Amino acid sequence: PRVLLVTSEALPLAKTGGLGDAVSGLARALREAQVDATILMPAYQSALDHATDLKEVASLPGLIGGDATVMSGWITEFEVPVLLLRNDALYVRDGSPYLDADGREWGDNALRFAALAQAATRISTGETPIRVPHIVHAHDWHAGMTPLFLHAAGIKRPKSIITIHNLAFQGVFPMETADALGVPHSYRGSDGAEFWGQLSFLKAGLRYADRITTVSDTYAKEILTPEFGNGLDGLLNHRKDDLSAIPNGIDSDIWDPATDPFLTSHFSAMDMRGKIRNKLELQQMFGLTTDPEAPLMVMGSRLTSQKMADLTIDAFPRLLDAHPRMQIAVLGCGEKHIEDGLRALQERYPFRFAINVGYDERSAHLLHAGADILLHGSRFEPFGLTPIYSILYGTIPVASRIGGLADTIKDAPLAEGASIGDATGVLFDGDTVDAMVAAVERAVSLYRNPQAWTAMQKNGMTTNFGWESSAAKYIELYRSLAPVAPVTAP
Ligand code: ADP
Ligand code: GLC
Repeated sequence: PRVLLVTSEALPLAKTGGLGDAVSGLARALREAQVDATILMPAYQSALDHATDLKEVASLPGLIGGDATVMSGWITEFEVPVLLLRNDALYVRDGSPYLDADGREWGDNALRFAALAQAATRISTGETPIRVPHIVHAHDWHAGMTPLFLHAAGIKRPKSIITIHNLAFQGVFPMETADALGVPHSYRGSDGAEFWGQLSFLKAGLRYADRITTVSDTYAKEILTPEFGNGLDGLLNHRKDDLSAIPNGIDSDIWDPATDPFLTSHFSAMDMRGKIRNKLELQQMFGLTTDPEAPLMVMGSRLTSQKMADLTIDAFPRLLDAHPRMQIAVLGCGEKHIEDGLRALQERYPFRFAINVGYDERSAHLLHAGADILLHGSRFEPFGLTPIYSILYGTIPVASRIGGLADTIKDAPLAEGASIGDATGVLFDGDTVDAMVAAVERAVSLYRNPQAWTAMQKNGMTTNFGWESSAAKYIELYRSLAPVAPVTAP
């Protein structure tokens, strides 16, 4: 089938988190499986800069937010075609796709992402010269209005799917915006896109998509409960028969320590010598004492409460005090009070603790390659790509037994000296500093047992996290909705 992936992020054109990795990785895997997949996303400046072979292929006069055009191009790194929705007034701005330079949401986000959905709909109903897809596959709230607009477009339309990468971000706006967005009145009720009196983009997607998927088996079950449902568990339970889990894969062209272009020293499960060189490089980059034997723990993620980053402000001093040789390095940005709390530790533990507040792809790769342990607590985690990157780079994750992490990481045995079996990491329950510290303690004692440690590293590095089987599941889903002969990608 021909598939249009509607998204706000796709690596390397735009990325603020795992969504960008997942969409580009999926698109590549689909095309490798002979599915004609194309990405549709806003023409942010970064997207215009990165995409190649750009040419205008359609105009969309009178689109929400103003006249727009569609440029077709190519994401060379992933060998994937992309359509960029161009309206510079909406998308070419300083800041992130969602926030201005001061960290405030753009005031017209409702318009910006409804325009994306309306463009997807106009393309999909044959209003432009662009070939009509059989399946429209929307990702997260940014694309959430797509299934609603398609539904409203009537019977002659492609089928729609929405994938939940994160139920906590919903795109909720005052109901008054519904007029400007052209949401028909019959779609504005509690049986439609209404959420506590407001207009919810994600609810619109979950309500009107033909199928719903999310990115891990455990998360698919968790979101049916009030604790993880973010107020949408009722609707999700109602649509349970149309909801399924398809785990993410990892793109091995981007994340392979044997070939990673961001690394100067390469290594593999067969030959780990290069890992130590990455460790020394990482220690240097962060201004830590260069010590090949010091247990080096890292954290690389958004510094938010989703990632339990708040707990680390208390957990890190306890660990650093208990283990005089231990080192910790943090790469991330997020909530200001967490950034500040961690910055203060830098003065307290010079050469042993360091934080790099920022967002940098190259440093993220070195972080995974050079560390011994990755700490990745999560209060909820739809999939959790970061700990899998670490596993593939011989860095043992200490993570929460929740969401995708519970499915992908195999916990080490509790009893000291017990056989490692198929373990790849250390898991902990709950969100207390005590539980987090105890889990890191377990990892540090495993680190002191080189035989156990090497066994865990090998287990992880040789696990297949590739996209092939996940892409096959999406293809099965596409075929079940649009039973046509596969169209070979050009
Ligand atoms: P989430 O999507 O919830 O943030 P994931 O672990 O699935 O969590 O994906 C996060 C992605 O963002 C990974 O590719 C990770 O390497 C990247 N990332 C997060 N913070 C940073 C940072 N400060 N610098 C570079 N990359 C980062
Ligand atoms: C979201 C989730 C993360 C997941 C990513 C890609 O940002 O928070 O767990 O890995 O999307 O699906």
